[in-house]
Amino acid sequence: GKVRAPTHIISTISDDRGEEPCYAGVPMSSIVERGFGVGDVISLLWFKRSLPRYCTQFIEICIMLCADHGPCVSGAHNTIVTARAGKDLVSSLVSGLLTIGPRFGGAIDDAARYFKDAYDRGLSPYEFVEGMKKKGIRVPGIGHRIKRGDNRDKRVELLQRFAHTHFPSVKYMEYAVQVETYTLSKANNLVLNVDGAIGSLFLDLLAGSGMFTQPEIDEIVEIGYLNGLFVLARSIGLIGHTFDQKRLKQPLYRHPWEDVLYTK
Ligand code: ACO
Ligand code: LMR
Repeated sequence: GKVRAPTHIISTISDDRGEEPCYAGVPMSSIVERGFGVGDVISLLWFKRSLPRYCTQFIEICIMLCADHGPCVSGAHNTIVTARAGKDLVSSLVSGLLTIGPRFGGAIDDAARYFKDAYDRGLSPYEFVEGMKKKGIRVPGIGHRIKRGDNRDKRVELLQRFAHTHFPSVKYMEYAVQVETYTLSKANNLVLNVDGAIGSLFLDLLAGSGMFTQPEIDEIVEIGYLNGLFVLARSIGLIGHTFDQKRLKQPLYRHPWEDVLYTK
């Protein structure tokens, strides 16, 4: 029989060897002819399956809502400073992307992990939040620098509204809202933020769509696919900020002395 030479790489998401490239077995012509959008392409390349329309629409809404949040946030700030130092597009982009992490934009996976664990274990919001406090861990997906109980994040509301209309179940999101009600009783800035909204709603998408087995859901949460949504989305804005600075011919940035506390 045939002896297969061992390969150095295994790949399961795309294939470029035929007449046309395929994403998870779906040829490019079919992607175009069927009017697929970026949500469908993400479904194929990340989740290796076609997801129902409401799921791909939800993915696209996440990307649109997280594409930018002004010039003052960590990512845009880094990108702007880098572009003004005369660096190229890729350097300016990655300099901004490197700020995405547990405090800024990259709390989605941990929010999903902790909300899922707490909900599945039947913890009350009080038990969950106080348990996290005892461990010295801030609740991922809760808290914001400028959003408040009386100035909520519109993006969170838009995501929640879409899910209420289209998702079969929003049990994880409802749990996250109960957690928010409790944290808001402690401090006015401890709102459910956009990372927490996406994290909890993606759990609802994974569990409610009927497209994933339980081991697959556990693997997605464990590996941490969801910060990818923010990374992808914010790249759009960071690229925009790079072009903006170049278009405006902005000079090298130097932070003003007056804004630094020089002390011993
Ligand atoms: N859980 C519990 N308590 C919190 C949380 C939280 N998530 N966030 C703030 N607090 C409390 C703490 O008691 C904190 O005191 P500490 O510094 O002793 O821990 C107190 O509020 C004051 O916190 P600040 O440092 O003033 O809050 P800040 O405005 O700097 O932080 C931040 C905002 C970074 C978002 C914070 O709330 C946090 O770490 N949240 C969790 C991570 C997260 O979800 N990040 C994504 C934000 S949305 C986005 O980036 C797109
Ligand atoms: C963002 O999307 O960048 C923000 O929620 C963070 C911020 O401080 O505005």
